Amino acid sequence: MCGIVGYAGARPALGIVLDGLRRLEYRGYDSAGVAVVCGEELLTEKKAGKLANLEKVLAERASADPTGCRAAGIGDGTTGIGHTRWATHGGPTDRNAHPHLSPDNGVAVIHNGIIENFAKLRTELENDGVTFASDTDTECAAHLLAAALAELRAAGEPDGPALLAAAMRAVCQRLEGAFTLLAVDARVPGAVVGARRNSPLVVGRGDGENYLASDVAAFIEHTREAVELGQDQIVLITPDSIEITDFEGRPASGKDFHIDWDSSAAEKGGYDWFMLKEIEEQPQAVADTLLGRLTETGEIMLDEVRLSDQDLRDVDKIFIVACGTAYHSGLVAKYAIEHWTRIPCEVELASEFRYRDPVLDRSTLIVVISQSGETMDTLMALRHAKEQKARVLAICNTNGSTIPRESDAVLYTHGGPEIAVASTKAFLTQLVACYLIGLHLAQVRGVKFADEVAAVVDQLHQMPGKLRELLGRIEPVRELARDLKAEPTVLFIGRHVGYPVALEGALKLKELAYMHAEGFAAGELKHGPIALIDKGTPVICIVPSPVGRGMLHDKVVSNIQEVRARGARTIVIAEEGDHAVVPYADHLIYVPRTPTLLAPLVTTVPLQVLAAEIAAARGHDVDQPRNLAKSVTVE
Ligand code: F6R
Repeated sequence: MCGIVGYAGARPALGIVLDGLRRLEYRGYDSAGVAVVCGEELLTEKKAGKLANLEKVLAERASADPTGCRAAGIGDGTTGIGHTRWATHGGPTDRNAHPHLSPDNGVAVIHNGIIENFAKLRTELENDGVTFASDTDTECAAHLLAAALAELRAAGEPDGPALLAAAMRAVCQRLEGAFTLLAVDARVPGAVVGARRNSPLVVGRGDGENYLASDVAAFIEHTREAVELGQDQIVLITPDSIEITDFEGRPASGKDFHIDWDSSAAEKGGYDWFMLKEIEEQPQAVADTLLGRLTETGEIMLDEVRLSDQDLRDVDKIFIVACGTAYHSGLVAKYAIEHWTRIPCEVELASEFRYRDPVLDRSTLIVVISQSGETMDTLMALRHAKEQKARVLAICNTNGSTIPRESDAVLYTHGGPEIAVASTKAFLTQLVACYLIGLHLAQVRGVKFADEVAAVVDQLHQMPGKLRELLGRIEPVRELARDLKAEPTVLFIGRHVGYPVALEGALKLKELAYMHAEGFAAGELKHGPIALIDKGTPVICIVPSPVGRGMLHDKVVSNIQEVRARGARTIVIAEEGDHAVVPYADHLIYVPRTPTLLAPLVTTVPLQVLAAEIAAARGHDVDQPRNLAKSVTVE
């Protein structure tokens, strides 16, 4: 939700900042803007729409410059900041694009988050004679920063990086809400100041240059050494230094970490869309998430889980809390965790959780699931749970992000960077992490189904191979996508773990293809939704394995017959060798044989491909669907 980049070094900042923004565009693409300190001047450019619009304006600016100076000087400064926006306060227009400037154009500020007391601050500033140039909450911070700098200068403080940091501290003390702010001042060349409260900001440590960004993807091609900032910290970077303080100015320290993602992971690598690449990466992402966590004897090793075995034995209730796709992974996990551990497990939407005042105590385990680790709804649910003394275990894909940092324990999914806004490999790796937690709890508490647990461990080891096999013969799904692209409605049905898969398939289609799509528990159809079925309505049916839970399988086959009898066109996803479905399937997609509880790892994949291909066939941007952002840092 808004991506921000800052650079202080010896190289031209503009290209570095634009490259960083390209990698952060998944966070929002309503507008983009840059500010570069060139000599003692601040040069800025900003434009509504995607980054490409800004780049076009910058190219025009460069070619309009008769001296040949790139982008009329803006290409030459070596200190800069850049922003890609997901609009909250103020529409997605040029004037609301960041950076926001002080009246004398000497100070530029970019922001991610929401300044909750902005209305009060704006009135106060307007009463002091300030004229606003935008409808954003951010502009208040620009004016406050300019005023704080003026005040410090008037008090005789010398110009320099320390002055910029002191002014930023003064501003932060006035702000409420969530914010990451970056600022540059034309009179303080060579320095970028950042501030962080409830929104992400990481530092990239370079050689003679340093970086600030919402996410390490922005600077991964330049450095692998990063510093995680704590809550309510100010960071000042110059080419040779990184200084961290708290909001009161006391020295503070961040946590150094090494980024082990391959920088090519943040590139498309020949694919038309990141999403298609990320779908193909799923076998590896699953293998990486399993790596080192299963011993040869079938023991589950979760060493990042800082909860003792006794803590886990004391758990008498589990809540899984998450949003969107991560919530769907939690819905699947409930079946596995309750079955293996016999601990009652509820799954809740993070945005609803704290408002219904759930009953929590020390023996409640809250599992929060978040790819980004920054989702505000999930973070607020986590904080509520901790206030009630519950223990929180995070499943997260982003090292150093807020959710794992505030949790009692964390299990990282090793999916690598997920750039496409629609979640794919994060979902599969979240499932794997949930299975591992379920198996671990079962083992620690004394397993009732020891044989089954051993068999599941064995099956998990086989999943990367099965996924590769499935992806190797996915072409018919692409053809089906072209066939379905003009449909007004697509319905999805499933039972048991197939129900969350149906929800996930429908979510993918809605968010990417902008089509009406709904997922139903197959047994619920007859209680109302079956009225939606018209002649030719496509219904995608997720069929459980006939092995082991035959009754479940037969029930879904009956549901398929019910919709078919009412004219539906059935697209059946079933396990290889399931001949019983053949007579009722207008299209049949076979997935590798997989035990029921693990089946979502394979049944989801054709639905991801289907949604991406339908979106592409309808001419949509597959990686950046309208109105969405990858990391949702507002409630
Ligand atoms: C859908 C999607 C979203 C996210 C949700 C939670 O494809 O990606 O529904 O799953 O916004 O995000 P995280 O996992 O970052 O908390």
